[in-house]
Amino acid sequence: MAESLSRDAEILRRRTFAIISHPDAGKTTLTEKLIFHGGLIRETGEVKGKKGAKAATSDWMTLEKEKGISITSSVIQFDYNKLRMNLLDTPGHKDFSEDTYRTLYAADSAVMLIDVAKGVEERTKKLYEVCRYKKLPIFTFINKCDREGKAPLELIDEIEETLNMKCYPVTWPMGLGGQFSGLYDRLNKQVFLYKGKDNFDDPIKVDSFDDPRWDEWLAPDIKETFIEEVELLDAALEPFSHEKYLAGELSPASFGSAKMNFAVNTFLDYFIQWAPGPGPRKNEEALIEPLDKDFTGFVFKIQANMDRNHRDRIAFIRVCSGAFERGMKVKHTRLDREIRLAYSSQFVAQSRETADTAFAGDIVGVNDSGNFQIGDCVSSGKKVQFEDIPRFTPELFARLSVKDAMKRKKLQKAIRELAEEGTIQTFIDPVIGDQDPVVGVVGELQFTVLLYRIEDEYNLSGAKINRLPLTVARWPRNAEGEFVDEIKGASIVYRDALDRPVILLEKEWDLRWLEKENEDITFGTPFTDFVIS
Ligand code: G4P
Repeated sequence: MAESLSRDAEILRRRTFAIISHPDAGKTTLTEKLIFHGGLIRETGEVKGKKGAKAATSDWMTLEKEKGISITSSVIQFDYNKLRMNLLDTPGHKDFSEDTYRTLYAADSAVMLIDVAKGVEERTKKLYEVCRYKKLPIFTFINKCDREGKAPLELIDEIEETLNMKCYPVTWPMGLGGQFSGLYDRLNKQVFLYKGKDNFDDPIKVDSFDDPRWDEWLAPDIKETFIEEVELLDAALEPFSHEKYLAGELSPASFGSAKMNFAVNTFLDYFIQWAPGPGPRKNEEALIEPLDKDFTGFVFKIQANMDRNHRDRIAFIRVCSGAFERGMKVKHTRLDREIRLAYSSQFVAQSRETADTAFAGDIVGVNDSGNFQIGDCVSSGKKVQFEDIPRFTPELFARLSVKDAMKRKKLQKAIRELAEEGTIQTFIDPVIGDQDPVVGVVGELQFTVLLYRIEDEYNLSGAKINRLPLTVARWPRNAEGEFVDEIKGASIVYRDALDRPVILLEKEWDLRWLEKENEDITFGTPFTDFVIS
């Protein structure tokens, strides 16, 4: 580790990114190989696939291990070729899209992982839309080339058409699956030939198409198709434009196999060459630059009970500018007061180390005694307010109960804390008060996780989810965009966690009716300009 680098050099060497993919495309496997190349693990296989006996490094919650799903995002930091990489892990399951959205908010770029046989899958498409909305640069890794798959040209066409984004293949495979024989590094004009389909470790490097070793290792028909395809690409593609990549309009694409650890290093070498470091962030009308003097950051994730023994709550702060120092005093914009960020950690999945210093681009976890909510902004200088991190609109609703009256207080505490963490949303009926809120989630699995965590982390057995026949939540506003709570025909106007009025309804039809009754009111979502379903 380069310890003596200046603050600015430290900031400039940060690369903070997330991987987006459909479940099973190989995100866990690729993550493992990336941290292997970063020297964080010495052997691949130390971290096993999720269905194996050991869970992946980044899956650390018990339920995740049992269910083989990745729910909470963690941050993995490793060095590669003088750069400090911050890989933000995103939950794979669709019920946790909101968590993924927030994570993408904290990233400077994304890697889109695509299964060569399956092409662009539904979840990748949704996550891609979020990246597009955020104008995040996207690098594509086409995985599982050791298996049969779609013809590479067809796949590139599919990505371009489905996502409406241009691709720029930087590598090109020779054959796929059983016929997979090598990879061409188009920009460096180098060919790597493989000695056999199970031997990817020691490729033969060939610089010219005339080298006789081609014929030794490559079947004539594969060579012919390959040369045709490469000529076609060279003729059809404009030169690579870094500006278009940075604007999220052009995605470099590279082929490989995470499982076989093949061409992951080639991908990484291109990735570090082009992936952006920390960029400016919008503070109301002005821009905050990463090299600015003051430390600024925002909370994109809160996680309770990471350490069972200490019942702690960690607020994850993305550092946007300057340097963070443990123990520093910062201005907390929402609370409008100064607080001290005393205990801070950086994370490699389960293991966590005290962080004395962190730089723009990094993620630090600070111990939180209830000061933070998602989206909160902090600064060592003037108050800052970055863009809001929007919430998703819940579609499933319930009230929670527990038979033993003695346990009610504990249940309320659990609900309150898990809502503050962003795991669930709560809606309060003003007549009943906050003793028994309606709980809303986006996906079914979130209820399962909720019950599990109440039992596991709060030691509270017997809590029950009583589902309510509601499916729609809408926030009423007048023509000026102000929230209003006088709604004709609405029996209850709930309040959300920020004390804004919300209407909860059984069906879309009820919403249509309410809209007719209240023509001067719009019933929107808090997620105003972008809707993910
Ligand atoms: P995810 O996190 O995106 O959900 O995917 P994960 O890495 O868990 O990979 C899903 C499955 O795909 C795993 O197989 C994994 O081994 C396999 N896989 C990942 N990358 C490649 C690749 O490049 N080539 C091939 N052939 N397979 C790949 P599994 O059978 O579910 O688990 P395991 O027993 O192999 O660990």
